Amino acid sequence: MHNAEFAVIGGTGVYDPDLLEAAEEVSVDTPYGSAFATIGTYKGKRVAFMPRHGKNHQVPPHQINYKANIQALFQLGVKKILTTAAVGSMRQAMPPGALVLVDQFLDFTKSRQTTFFESGEPVAHVDMSDPYCVVLRQHLQATARAIEIPIVYGGTYVCTEGPRFETPAEIRMYERLGGDVVGMTSVPETVLAKERGMCYATVAMVTNFSAGMSGSPLSHQEVLDEMARNVHLIRRLFFDAIASLDVKQTCHCHTALGIV
Ligand code: HPA
Repeated sequence: MHNAEFAVIGGTGVYDPDLLEAAEEVSVDTPYGSAFATIGTYKGKRVAFMPRHGKNHQVPPHQINYKANIQALFQLGVKKILTTAAVGSMRQAMPPGALVLVDQFLDFTKSRQTTFFESGEPVAHVDMSDPYCVVLRQHLQATARAIEIPIVYGGTYVCTEGPRFETPAEIRMYERLGGDVVGMTSVPETVLAKERGMCYATVAMVTNFSAGMSGSPLSHQEVLDEMARNVHLIRRLFFDAIASLDVKQTCHCHTALGIV
């Protein structure tokens, strides 16, 4: 039986196979489909690393099986999930290279399955006052400070459907609505984690200024290149955070569904 207490969801480069002891690749079957993870031990902690876009990084954001991914972590016994995601920035104060510990989201997705509670299940309305775990965010901020990695504490993540980038008019609207960064993956991932009672936090990695801000077209390649430049910071931050992270949940995440 495989098990893990902590999980990291991210893209290429966040997971370093040399850091985990006795790493094993597993495919976890769930009622929603199967999900891939690498599980191992880091400084005595059981950690599952899950590539969000699948083993071969091929699944586009709007087609990710978020329910299988989160359910798989739940079945493994994961209590705390650290995630990273590439984002465009709508703020001059959050330029490419900035890391943003987001604390709110605005959901502009369109076609995704956003809940475990479909018809036939009991009706459930999960509390979203703190979409990203307060205690986990504080821990990540304290870790970043201790290892002198600059991080912006707080920000609103606008989640779009993708896979296309936004129009400049959409960006102007999102910015007026209070968005700070824009990406394609945080919803429903954070919602599903909360429905399963797990703590979840995201360090968004700014890879570009949003559409219309820089005066030049956006390309997927510039996103990949900027991520590759900064992913070592996230890796260091997450592994250091996990080393000193307690599995006990002292926040409200495990009771957010109202089921104790
Ligand atoms: N928009 C949406 N998703 C993104 C962006 C962006 O500008 N950059 C990286 N992911």
